[in-house]
Amino acid sequence: MLKISFAKPALPKIGAVAMGVFDNRKLTKSAAAYDRKSRGAVTRAIGASRFKGKKRDLLAVLAPSGSRLGRLVLYGFGKPGALDALGAEAIGGALVAHLAQTGEDDLAVVVEIEAAKGLSPATAAARIAYGARLRSYRFDKYRTTEKPEQKPSLKRLVVMVDDPARAKAEFQRLDKVADGVFFARDLVSEPANVIHPESLAHEAQSLSALGVDVELLGEEKMRKLGMNALLGVGHGSAKESHLVVMRWQGRPGAKGEQPVAFVGKGVTFDSGGISIKPAGGMEEMKWDMAGSAAVIGLMKALAARNAKVNAVGVIGLVENMPSGTAQRPGDVVRSMSGQTIEVINTDAEGRLVLADALWYTRERFKPRIMIDLATLTGAIMVALGREHAGLFSNNDELADRLLAAGKAEGERLWRMPLGEAYDKEINSDIADMKNTGNRYGGSITAAQFLKRFVKDTPWAHLDIAGMAWSEKDRPTVPKGGSAFGVRLLDRLVADNYESAA
Ligand code: BES
Ligand code: MN
Ligand code: ZN
Repeated sequence: MLKISFAKPALPKIGAVAMGVFDNRKLTKSAAAYDRKSRGAVTRAIGASRFKGKKRDLLAVLAPSGSRLGRLVLYGFGKPGALDALGAEAIGGALVAHLAQTGEDDLAVVVEIEAAKGLSPATAAARIAYGARLRSYRFDKYRTTEKPEQKPSLKRLVVMVDDPARAKAEFQRLDKVADGVFFARDLVSEPANVIHPESLAHEAQSLSALGVDVELLGEEKMRKLGMNALLGVGHGSAKESHLVVMRWQGRPGAKGEQPVAFVGKGVTFDSGGISIKPAGGMEEMKWDMAGSAAVIGLMKALAARNAKVNAVGVIGLVENMPSGTAQRPGDVVRSMSGQTIEVINTDAEGRLVLADALWYTRERFKPRIMIDLATLTGAIMVALGREHAGLFSNNDELADRLLAAGKAEGERLWRMPLGEAYDKEINSDIADMKNTGNRYGGSITAAQFLKRFVKDTPWAHLDIAGMAWSEKDRPTVPKGGSAFGVRLLDRLVADNYESAA
């Protein structure tokens, strides 16, 4: 684990030091001072390269002989005053990625910028540290034969800034969110023989150590509640399905206040069931529980940073397997809401799970807003690729708040339409609805299906199928489970639903 601290600017004696350069090769004070001290080593190295000091430029220079420093890394700030929070995070991420394979144990980053865009030097320092930590994530517990020189070497990061106390204070809050992100990434990365409905329910229970009240509902309880849509999906599995309710009371004085609610799809493995998926790529369906992992990670973040909000997290945990007890195409199930569903395709299972989870959450908690996260459709990836999650909502204010939070945190959303004409596509000949639409607009008909279970609650559905897992390294997200949604929803809460007291 990367150990992160803050200090006043000084030239470190060992390890690597990173210094900023503005656009057009304009050196920051410390870089200029080092240049003089090393008799022009910095300007010479820049002159012999394409490094311009643009955003995301990086140039590594071996420290001149006579110094015990290992290396100097120059990073681009872009135009003076142009750095924003996400840009600062990307710098931290890029430095960590670069240093990982160099053999260096220590990195000091000197942060010297003039305040701009509401980004003070201290905030920039905190964000660089945050980006560094987020990028340092690695899921390597099953790599038993990796040699030490194949593991990332970087152990300690010191971020140097004029006001280290303020940077540290700001980082502490971000660090808690990162704890939630890491927990979610771990859960998503684990294979389905390790994370199944029972073990995932157990993992959620660990949040009780932070003061989160965690309740487990097994199949018997859910049967009594009439959750046959959810239970039908888990019917073919040897593992017991679970509904987990997590409650964080950050405003204990406001007991009667309606909470904010988050609902996650937790299909720990989606084989497709009897409508079985093709073999190619099926292993990726271990991350069909990413929505529920994001809800767990979010609840962890809210509790760890002591958010002043009353929040509820509900996750529906099932394994979608084919077997002699599995549900069949054509089966009709009665959901907890009383509405009946004809199961045309057992692979459209996420909406069946959410139908009961959403209804239950609404009935029991009467939340002021309800947001679900789900790797719900391949169709959303066709529509939006892997740069935006799909946002569907019956409430413009909530949708706008989500779009803003997504932009601020770099977890971007794109709003998709809902409407009566789409809704008609899921009418069934023998039941109230069927669980698939026609060939087109698959992510929209899936959202219309969910909408039938939220009534007038201000609700948003995030289809994160393209975002739950990153197929490549990104500035603050290494390849693998992304924990998409944790940062976004933590920000949504912080900006709109938290208050003093
Ligand atoms: N979990 C899948 C959606 C998915 C597909 C997520 C690919 C990530 C990558 C979901 O349960 C599913 O199978 N959806 C079907 C729905 C169809 C049968 C109507 C799909 O998208 O093909
Ligand atoms: Mn499916
Ligand atoms: Zn699925």
